[in-house]
Amino acid sequence: MLRMLTAGESHGKSLLAILDGFPAGMKVDTDAINVELKRRQGGYGRGGRMKLEVDEVDIQSGIWQGVTLGSPITLAVINRDYKLERLKDVERPRPGHGDLSGAMKYLGSVRAILERASARETAVRVAAGALAQQLLSLFGISVFGYVLELEKIKTTPSVGTYSELKAIRDASPMYTLDPVADKEIVARVDQATQDGDTLGGIIEVRVDGLPFGLGSHAQWDRKLDGLLAQAVMSIQAIKGVEIGLGFEAARRPGSMVHDPIHFDASRKFEPSLGYTRPTNNAGGLEAGMTNGQPLVVRAAKKPISTLRKPLDSISLKTKEPENAAYERSDVCALAAASVIVETVVALTVAQSFLEKFGNDSILEIQSRYTGYLELARQR
Ligand SMILES: Cc1cc2nc3c(=O)[nH]c(=O)nc-3n(C[C@H](O)[C@H](O)[C@H](O)COP(=O)(O)O)c2cc1C
Repeated sequence: MLRMLTAGESHGKSLLAILDGFPAGMKVDTDAINVELKRRQGGYGRGGRMKLEVDEVDIQSGIWQGVTLGSPITLAVINRDYKLERLKDVERPRPGHGDLSGAMKYLGSVRAILERASARETAVRVAAGALAQQLLSLFGISVFGYVLELEKIKTTPSVGTYSELKAIRDASPMYTLDPVADKEIVARVDQATQDGDTLGGIIEVRVDGLPFGLGSHAQWDRKLDGLLAQAVMSIQAIKGVEIGLGFEAARRPGSMVHDPIHFDASRKFEPSLGYTRPTNNAGGLEAGMTNGQPLVVRAAKKPISTLRKPLDSISLKTKEPENAAYERSDVCALAAASVIVETVVALTVAQSFLEKFGNDSILEIQSRYTGYLELARQR
């Protein structure tokens, strides 16, 4: 079983992720992890802090001479603006944050809550997910995330090969696949910045090259749709998760939802084993298991909670009305969130992949993977 725990405060010394159960024998590309960390810091609409921090992963255990050992991997991202000891408490809880709930739950300070609730924690989730992406890529599986909608602006994603789409996304200020919509998106973020407001939107992640049978139909806590929903929903500011058609499936008759099953022997050696589906409304998952089609996950991100034009709050000392506290903040972190959702999906898929094919060594997994495909082709 591949497990992850994270630790660290937003303005503490560092963020840490421990990955337990990662197989031995994988050559690690540290630069590729840093590329994802840098992408998480980018995107149009970010606040000042992202310009201060240049995140880089510091691998503290589990890797020797660039290769995974099979022992727990510790990934650290050091905070260059460490200042937690000097920071004061916050007296005016911010709507949309855990400030009030956490202070009541722990009978303590708001600072204790906001430091840990902050999305800064996702720096190490991204590092861990980037490592999972490297594992999946050994088996021809790619995980690709992009922004689909900003507020009410819908994009029309370009069509192309993986490397063409990656080039379009990486050139986009909001990590979309639509250079035309980007102009409107940038103008909308500029307007929100002027208004002291914030914006959210919708992210889509696509996983290609998946074999049949990741996840399970048999038990609620092993179903991959359920695991994805939990993992993606746990990302700060994500308020909805859809797989395939998602909520739209409820608005259509069955004949316009379910994907017919065909067979094309010439595609027998693809991960789909030749079973083709003219549509992919299920988003690659049926009964909690992958069905050989691309996995499609969407996530809805709410607008940033800290507003320069603050909402009503109260003073926790006097209980009198006050404006909510303001700390330097993003106007729109949707592009960054697309990197987080992408890597969180990668980690979740990697967990189910290792559950099916074992997690001791890459060599053994490769042999079990090819053996399984062979058997499934004969089924
Ligand atoms: C990439 C990213 C960056 C964020 N940056 C900020 C920020 O600068 N200011 C802020 O108030 N909230 C920010 N948030 C949102 C909060 O972390 C989140 O809304 C808060 O922790 C409450 O959790 P919840 O929205 O999941 O209920 C960010 C979220 C993400 C995913």
